[in-house]
Amino acid sequence: MGDRYRYYNEYGQNSGPEPYPLGQDDFLSGLQEEERNPGDSQAAKIALRHAVISDGNFIGSLSGDVFKVYGPYEDILLRWFKSERDITTIIACRDKTQIGFVMLSEPSDMYNLHEVSEILGIAVKPQSQGKGVGGMLLRAIEIKSASLNIKWLFLHTAIDNVSARRLYERTGYTNLEIKKGFYPEGQDAIVMYKAVKRFIE
Ligand SMILES: CC(C)(COP(=O)(O)OP(=O)(O)OC[C@H]1O[C@@H](n2cnc3c(N)ncnc32)[C@H](O)[C@@H]1OP(=O)(O)O)[C@@H](O)C(=O)NCCC(=O)NCCS
Repeated sequence: MGDRYRYYNEYGQNSGPEPYPLGQDDFLSGLQEEERNPGDSQAAKIALRHAVISDGNFIGSLSGDVFKVYGPYEDILLRWFKSERDITTIIACRDKTQIGFVMLSEPSDMYNLHEVSEILGIAVKPQSQGKGVGGMLLRAIEIKSASLNIKWLFLHTAIDNVSARRLYERTGYTNLEIKKGFYPEGQDAIVMYKAVKRFIE
């Protein structure tokens, strides 16, 4: 989870992101999991789409399940989702039921770099983990980032979050620094980053 929890109370409430029909954006056309994994029936059933307002309950509830050990992330991620219009959230569904999400911040300047976004959170329902959904979500947000001209992706994850760190390392993220006591419950975080590849010219 990302760097924003310290500020989340400052964000005003608004009506949240507009519904974003799939047809308005071709970034998902870069993801052809079915073609790349023709024998993988799990991957073939996964659909990715932009989040709509009604996904808020799912995002809050899954965040509460998987992030509560680190702090009040049910409220935090829901508040980010509802209150910042430039946040991008992608939902993974199996048979139209949500099973995961990834949330990206608006671009800003960080670490003396321009056009930097942060992956604020990525989560897959426990019963759907270990089947490639997290990897798909990460790839989708990287493709989306490229289409938004974002040049660098950063993220924070807990040092003890072995599965998340393995996913990030496997997909090309590099360790940058450790932040002691970063999370509200006191765990240390590691910052990782990756240069965004141009998937779509
Ligand atoms: C981190 C997280 C998002 C990863 O999601 P996921 O869907 O389990 O990720 P993947 O399935 O793509 O990869 C996980 C493992 O499954 C393996 N895998 C992927 N597809 C597979 C398949 N078809 N069959 C068997 N194994 C597979 C991957 O190789 C990987 O193995 P590894 O951990 O040994 O490297 C998920 O564990 C999660 O939601 N955790 C709780 C929330 C969290 O900690 N988020 C990160 C902090 S912001």
